[in-house]
Amino acid sequence: MALRRMSRLEGLRANSSQFSLMGEPFRILGGSIHYFRVPRAYWRDRLLKMKACGLNTLTTYVPWNLHEPERGTFIFQDQLDVRAYVSLAAELGLWVILRPGPYICAEWELGGLPSWLLQDKHMQLRTTYPGFVEAVSLYFDKLVSVIKPLMFEEGGPVIAVQVENEYGSYAKDDQYMPFIKHCLQSRGINELLLTSDNWEGLRYGAMEGVLKTINLQRLSFGAIQHLADMQPQKPLMVMEYWSGWFDVWGEHHHVFHAEDMLAVVREILDRGVSINLYMFHGGTSFGFMNGALDFGTYKPQVTSYDYDAPLSEAGDCTTKYLLLRNLFSHYHSEPLPEVPHLQERRAYNPVAIQQHLSLWDSLLLTEKPFRSERPVNMENLPANSNHGQSYGYTLYEASIASGGALNSQNNIRDRALVFVDRQCIGSLDYKTQELALPEVKGERTLSLLVENCGRVNYGKALDEQRKGIVGDILLNQIPLRGFTIFCLDMKPAFMKRLTNAGQWKSDLRSASVPGFFQACLYVEGAPRDTFVRLHDWGKGSVFVNGQNLGRYWSIGPQHFLYLPGPWLRSGENQIIVFEEQKPGDKMHFAENADHGKTIDVYKLPFCTLL
Ligand code: GLA
Repeated sequence: MALRRMSRLEGLRANSSQFSLMGEPFRILGGSIHYFRVPRAYWRDRLLKMKACGLNTLTTYVPWNLHEPERGTFIFQDQLDVRAYVSLAAELGLWVILRPGPYICAEWELGGLPSWLLQDKHMQLRTTYPGFVEAVSLYFDKLVSVIKPLMFEEGGPVIAVQVENEYGSYAKDDQYMPFIKHCLQSRGINELLLTSDNWEGLRYGAMEGVLKTINLQRLSFGAIQHLADMQPQKPLMVMEYWSGWFDVWGEHHHVFHAEDMLAVVREILDRGVSINLYMFHGGTSFGFMNGALDFGTYKPQVTSYDYDAPLSEAGDCTTKYLLLRNLFSHYHSEPLPEVPHLQERRAYNPVAIQQHLSLWDSLLLTEKPFRSERPVNMENLPANSNHGQSYGYTLYEASIASGGALNSQNNIRDRALVFVDRQCIGSLDYKTQELALPEVKGERTLSLLVENCGRVNYGKALDEQRKGIVGDILLNQIPLRGFTIFCLDMKPAFMKRLTNAGQWKSDLRSASVPGFFQACLYVEGAPRDTFVRLHDWGKGSVFVNGQNLGRYWSIGPQHFLYLPGPWLRSGENQIIVFEEQKPGDKMHFAENADHGKTIDVYKLPFCTLL
């Protein structure tokens, strides 16, 4: 990958009302694409499309939870090879702004913070609490060693680095931002530092010697003037210009009309302000990586991060893309590069479910269950060699000798299916906290299959994101005791054992839920992208050749899961669906995703726009 030679020229500077780069006036025309939301095989395609749209700068977050999945274990390869991603941007002639957090928000599980931080029951995330400081320091030792060679002064494309993310909206500790700044600078990051905040947060997120930037979607609140007033004689930048919006389960798909968006982008550019489109291409929160909102009501986000962005989830150029390309072309003296060819997609023929395996049979394939008198939250389970469980489901079982009122005392995080002797009785969640268990004679097994639906990624409730069962559950006012706990994080090793298991059954009439359902997709010729269409299914996750595509749920708005062609192979492909409630008998595929009922973001009250 081509990096420039070490440069004596100056990198990005913010010494006057205009940025300069290598001594020349420079306007940032940026776009966000998260490498962890786009299959690696498509990084080049998406970045070429960015370049062809007339952008000059790629911005990306860095998700700590993926890079350090267990305390002290670091991953910077394959899909997480941030060095290769940034180097590719350089090769294609893009500058890069890195946003390494450590907190990134981003509609990402716990805003990108690893859930193992919550093993410490006194943890105070995003503060100078010693346990947090220590973990950040060790992570930054590793991270900065990976990204340092990518800095402008080292000949790389990184012209600026963001300090934390919208800390002004959290602002729990005034020592914290200086600490993160020091983390970067003391490890040798000398490029321009900036902070990124919304209108209200600007006042509290700022720091001396660090450029303030603003996040917004509309200009009607005088936001840019507000930024200019706070920071006279400095370049103005909209760090997150929200090109669309994200979706949560059970609500409509957000759209932001192309012309409305274009009018604002045009005005921002007319005013001489730098811009970064968040998102330029959203991609997908594959696996269990979606975050959640909680402003009084917990609302988990969907798998797709289409965001109604200029490039769709599957990388198509939308109307927004074409309008923006036309607009940005006026900011270049040379004609823009050709737009790369669109990827062909395919609606494969439906395939029948051939085999099933019940959740109960799969328990033999999990780690040895844990026994505990009281419930233990998933982070504190001795699973994964004592590193705890981070994502997925946890099954809690206890013996009961009677029926009666089962009361969760709001200790279920986030949703539980409740079984007596493996018969589903109902579900518990934030809204439903009590269930009537049928009268039983003798000893019965009560099972609670608890799903972590995604940790909150924004707001003051970050420290309260422990999952599983987080306190006592009462049966007729008496706390349940004597739990057997199974970790069902559905990681690749488990899925492999599942694939090879002898317990699969072909007689579908005996299929029970929750359970795993298997189908085989035979691909003739070169694999293409497709969408798995899940209208006939209830709630669960889809795994293709071991890759977790993410969650689906019949309440919508999302009913299609993006399946990238590079994760398929010519010939046989294994599809496993984990279904909680209502299995379909086939897997259907579609060329395009229908996002369901839509709502215009302009119709939302401003306060929901963060
Ligand atoms: C904020 C955050 C982003 C993202 C957007 C909404 O601006 O900084 O990470 O969460 O909101 O999409």
